[in-house]
Amino acid sequence: MAKLGVNIDHIATLRQARRGQEPEPVTAAALAEMAGADGITIHLREDRRHIQDRDLRLLRETARTRINLEMAPTQEMVKIALDIKPDMVTFVPEKREELTTEGGLEVKLAKEDLGKYIRLLHEGEILVSLFIDPDIDQVKATHKAGADYIEIHTGRYAEARNKREEDREFNDIFNTVKIASKLHLGINAGHGLDYWNIKRLLQIDEIEEFNIGHSIIARAVMVGMERAVKDMVEVIKTGVSKNF
Ligand code: PXP
Repeated sequence: MAKLGVNIDHIATLRQARRGQEPEPVTAAALAEMAGADGITIHLREDRRHIQDRDLRLLRETARTRINLEMAPTQEMVKIALDIKPDMVTFVPEKREELTTEGGLEVKLAKEDLGKYIRLLHEGEILVSLFIDPDIDQVKATHKAGADYIEIHTGRYAEARNKREEDREFNDIFNTVKIASKLHLGINAGHGLDYWNIKRLLQIDEIEEFNIGHSIIARAVMVGMERAVKDMVEVIKTGVSKNF
């Protein structure tokens, strides 16, 4: 069965709306773990728009599962990761004006920096994943750069407007997974996934973990964190979305 990583950034987004103390992302992480999450993902953005440095520090002290730290490939972020030691770093492209991560990394263009940062993180015994579009050249470049995992950007699949577009995006993901698997890369996937569109991706056995944020937190606002996470675990386990 595929694993579930819960991205709790939006708990911090709500807190930062008032720059106060509530809701507490670390509490949300603990509830997600109690409800069956296999890991917690946070994105420490350069502009600190949601997750703050103290969230990462506290999460490192309290998390019972694994921490996947999403971050831009910069010296500042690598230094923070080597200090706090998440279990995995996922490098993502970052633009200040974007609402959320909009595309995968251009691994070839950034291969020197990425290679250097991957080596440093490996010396710190941190696994490294690269967030890439479902594209075979990006997988090959990720392998060359020495990363352990890819995380496939599922945004285009999630946003497909009709069956034909969805089929095309699904096939791109499927083919990318097969190549990554041949290259012995670990495979995660995420972005834009919800209680319904995840089902088709569950057919791809090689996907180890799904990283899901917005849809779980949106549901948690209505029904609570534990229930929202349990519902997603159930979809992953059964491949069935009930009429939620
Ligand atoms: N994976 C990566 C690399 C991301 O940047 C994000 C969004 O922060 C997610 C997964 C989760 O996406 P969503 O919030 O749409 O589920």
